Amino acid sequence: MTEIHATAAQAALVSLQNQLGAQAVLIGEAVPERNRNDWSSQAPTHPIAVVRPKDAAEVSVTLKACAQAGLKVVPQGGLTGLCGGARPEDGWVALSMERMVGVEEVDPAGSTMTVWAGTPLEVVQQAADQAGLFFSLDLGARGSCAIGGNLSTNAGGNRVIRYGMARELVLGIEVVLPDGTIITSLNKMLKNNAGYDLKQLFIGSEGTLGVITRVVLRLHPKPQCTMAALCAVSDFEALVGLLKAARAGLGPTLSAFEVMWPDYWHVVTNRAKVKAAVGQGHAQYVLIEAQGTDEQADPPRFQAWLESVMAQGLLADAAVAQSLADVKGFWALRDACADFFQVIGPHVSYDVAMPIGRMADFAVQCKADLLAAGGIQSIYYGHVGDGNLHLVVWADGVSLTEQPKDTMDAVIYGLVKERGGSISAEHGIGTQKKKWLGHSRSAEEIALMQTLKKALDPLNLLNPGKVVSV
Ligand code: LAC
Ligand code: ZN
Repeated sequence: MTEIHATAAQAALVSLQNQLGAQAVLIGEAVPERNRNDWSSQAPTHPIAVVRPKDAAEVSVTLKACAQAGLKVVPQGGLTGLCGGARPEDGWVALSMERMVGVEEVDPAGSTMTVWAGTPLEVVQQAADQAGLFFSLDLGARGSCAIGGNLSTNAGGNRVIRYGMARELVLGIEVVLPDGTIITSLNKMLKNNAGYDLKQLFIGSEGTLGVITRVVLRLHPKPQCTMAALCAVSDFEALVGLLKAARAGLGPTLSAFEVMWPDYWHVVTNRAKVKAAVGQGHAQYVLIEAQGTDEQADPPRFQAWLESVMAQGLLADAAVAQSLADVKGFWALRDACADFFQVIGPHVSYDVAMPIGRMADFAVQCKADLLAAGGIQSIYYGHVGDGNLHLVVWADGVSLTEQPKDTMDAVIYGLVKERGGSISAEHGIGTQKKKWLGHSRSAEEIALMQTLKKALDPLNLLNPGKVVSV
């Protein structure tokens, strides 16, 4: 930044501080550590300031002032993203939603909730529960991530198989455009075909087209009982058969179908020492969860279904949860990946997608190719019912910044491309996967993304260089 620009930027920030209050604008050294980075495990940066507005009007004032001073702005929610979407660069302004928290309204008749963008996901879940309803989005970072960030990244998580991604759980949105225009589109109806569905532009575009300030969420009836089984199968064909049988037999109650490969299972049960209700030596392990509406009838129905798939020869072993503690115990195996930094050490996480029919061969090939590319280790698990595979990949004894990420990316994304898959099922692109976007999107698709970006942010100041460059 030249000196003249630096002065103009300082003046703009001081003026903002006067308008919004000292606590709303922290400049230079006063920027807290948390606003300098996200969970993408890159080095912290030096944003010029953090602005913490209290509503859309203050976001608008901020974006107008930044546009005038030529300042780049990154919107921030809970900062739990894994791809760098909310990470500032040196000299940028971090626009944090941390003061825009709370539930504005729950409408039990319409089954909706209107909530501020900075509200943690877990608070949204609890508010729905207290109202006798259910907000279905769920992921490991629930206590820290913010609903605005969940929407701007179109978060996925554990229950997509039943309720869909974040995108499907949004009815209305309030968003501030890069020029400061406030679009209040807090629709509450499931059906509204009055022109373009504008909210979809901002959901999943990772804060590059606008800043989400408030949302109307779609709630569901609260499940009255949760059933779960931990299953083992002896080959991938049986796993595909089991998924088909779960869809057909459990119908709309099927709420999770999480698969763990033996390499993942070994790390979790041997190294992380999580207790498992089924033994080792199987081809795949599956956590099947169903949520019912009838406490009396649904658990025996689930048990009967499990016995029927056992009789069909689809299962090598299985355990049914007898209590909520058992359900939690099963999930502990799946959630153990959150502690992998302690268990495995430095590693890189992937969230690829591909048709389920290609997964078995992908995992075998990918593991071999990574090993051949320099002894790189990999383990496999994921939301297989959604076509979403997670990989945890690392080179032993190598620090996080020295991990051979380019080699890993080239091997993994190359194999994903060959199988017609996606380089990101749910975590997004940010800066981390941008180079590989062409593996999953055509040149025409990327050009249309650039057209949208230029139309909404002609000065290229809102989260520039994230997802696509223009
Ligand atoms: C998970 C995260 C990595 O599903 O998306 O564990
Ligand atoms: Zn996931």
